[in-house]
Amino acid sequence: MRNVALVVLALIVASLGVASAAPAGRVTVLCSPNPAWCDAVKAEFPKATGLQVDFVRLSSGEALARLRAERQNPSFDVWFGGTGDPHIVANEEGLTEFIRPAAWNDLRQEFREAVAGKYIPLYAGILGWALNERLLQEKNLPVPRTWKDIADPRYRGLIAYPNPNTSGTGYTMLATLVQIYGEKAAFDLLKAIHKNVAEYTRSGAAPGQLAGRGEVAVGITFIHDAVDQVLKGFPITYNAPSDGTGYEIGGLSLVKATPNRANALAFINWALTPAAQGLAASDGQSYQIPSNSKTPVPSTSPRFQAFKVIKYDFVKYGTASVRDGLVKKWTTEVFPLPK
Ligand code: F6P
Repeated sequence: MRNVALVVLALIVASLGVASAAPAGRVTVLCSPNPAWCDAVKAEFPKATGLQVDFVRLSSGEALARLRAERQNPSFDVWFGGTGDPHIVANEEGLTEFIRPAAWNDLRQEFREAVAGKYIPLYAGILGWALNERLLQEKNLPVPRTWKDIADPRYRGLIAYPNPNTSGTGYTMLATLVQIYGEKAAFDLLKAIHKNVAEYTRSGAAPGQLAGRGEVAVGITFIHDAVDQVLKGFPITYNAPSDGTGYEIGGLSLVKATPNRANALAFINWALTPAAQGLAASDGQSYQIPSNSKTPVPSTSPRFQAFKVIKYDFVKYGTASVRDGLVKKWTTEVFPLPK
């Protein structure tokens, strides 16, 4: 009898021990979307899991550079968001590891197939323009319709374009033009557009902000980032070029060498739940199409059917040799050209 009582006591103590030791600790996240979404994640993840989040916001290309630099001793456990191309490079270079999250079967099949298991799809967004039509009217200029239009010298000094070295948005435009026109014609076009660029920005959202403030007439950006500016009351409209545009499938990846794997996996699984994905539009000023088919698509999200979106080859243009080659070519052959 005494033995039974001891066993029962031991079980009670053990269960208390489990309860009190339950979720503890932190996750360090490399966060590449709008900082407001990173803040919302930081506020809500602890409520769901008891784990705390620290994050650093870096644009997609900067984030890849950071992971490469910290290969031996990573300071991040998870990479949340950012365009897919550097997630593919990171996977190829052994910096991140593809895992199948709990919600895998609920993630939109077309997103999963498009990125071929190189990373976990988090959202999708369409590349386009934030347009300050007031400024165009003041300058007596028509609203541009095609990529070729923005190469017209009439738009000199009126365009902002994210630098493809730092920005995934900038790289998405570069790869989009190569896919529509072929490499030679795309680079000729980029050289002509360069003459019109007032500012190369570090992040992909910045050109829309510059258009909102009237500093440029055309900000090359993801359309959901232009939506953010519209909802904040800035006087812009948005569109995508009628000759075709690219899109992103934003990524979510486990940093391979993290010693904090269990917490990292808890974060990844939480980030793909409809409740977590819903934070993007509710608190995070982010209007992409969520990857989980059970997450309602925000009414403010730009829809694929509304634009001429190309069949973007994510795997080819995310391959390190292709991506690094195109960025290097742009950096040496376009960026230094006089304006
Ligand atoms: O601001 C959000 C967002 O457009 C994401 O949809 C995208 O993945 C990311 O920013 C790209 O940012 P950047 O161009 O700065 O790498």
